[in-house]
Amino acid sequence: MRPRLEAIFDAIPPDAGAVADIGYDLGNLLVALLSRRRTVNVVGVEVQPGARERFLDTHAAVVAEAGPRLTLRTGDGLTALSPGDVEGVAIAGIGAHNIAAMLRAAPEVVAALDWLVLCPPRFDGVIRPALYELGFHPSDERLVRDRGHTYEVIVARPGPEPTTDPVARAFGPRLFERRDPALVGYLEELAASFAGAYDHALADYRPGSRKAALGAKLRSLPDALARARAFTDG
Ligand SMILES: C[S@@+](CC[C@H](N)C(=O)[O-])C[C@H]1O[C@@H](n2cnc3c(N)ncnc32)[C@H](O)[C@@H]1O
Repeated sequence: MRPRLEAIFDAIPPDAGAVADIGYDLGNLLVALLSRRRTVNVVGVEVQPGARERFLDTHAAVVAEAGPRLTLRTGDGLTALSPGDVEGVAIAGIGAHNIAAMLRAAPEVVAALDWLVLCPPRFDGVIRPALYELGFHPSDERLVRDRGHTYEVIVARPGPEPTTDPVARAFGPRLFERRDPALVGYLEELAASFAGAYDHALADYRPGSRKAALGAKLRSLPDALARARAFTDG
């Protein structure tokens, strides 16, 4: 698997008994879980109607070996699960706004989860606020480079976020706490990629717009970067 999916796989607690992969697409994470974690039960959820047949055809041997350890459901996000079906969910490669909407659409399912592993495809301003709102906090956060892009992999668990520092809460409290050496490069990369938006005073990210949450986070990016540089230099 590529580094991004490998990091997502590694973030799934090794003692997990039942896991759902929401938006499994080609099913690479399902295959890894079934073949490398030999006791875990896996539920795959996909909104694409053809995904189930494609997976069953492509991975017939894995499916046969997995037997009842594998369940594939066609459905929309966490609404395809019932509370307690699984201990945790992985949601990767789905936009942050959609992930946040999915979590809010299934509050009973979310309230019964022990953990979530989230890896949105792009930098965003909504994932952590949604976790805080739903009574979760990041228990671990990692940055992973894959094909020239940096991905955030967030493990969330129930309970309030202990950090009150707004910058750390927005950018990754565990990344700041651990003084993650990859943080400064990531933040520099973001500052460069949003340079055009800063040149226009973040006009497309004004309060009240769909990108308002991202705008608020981008406004505190210089502060986050200065702090990450300080702990890298010091
Ligand atoms: C870019 S793929 C990512 C696949 C895989 N999770 C990964 O990270 O490599 C996103 C997948 O999520 C599925 N998806 C998007 N919204 C969904 C939803 N509400 N419920 C279930 N699947 C969804 C899409 O159909 C697509 O297959």
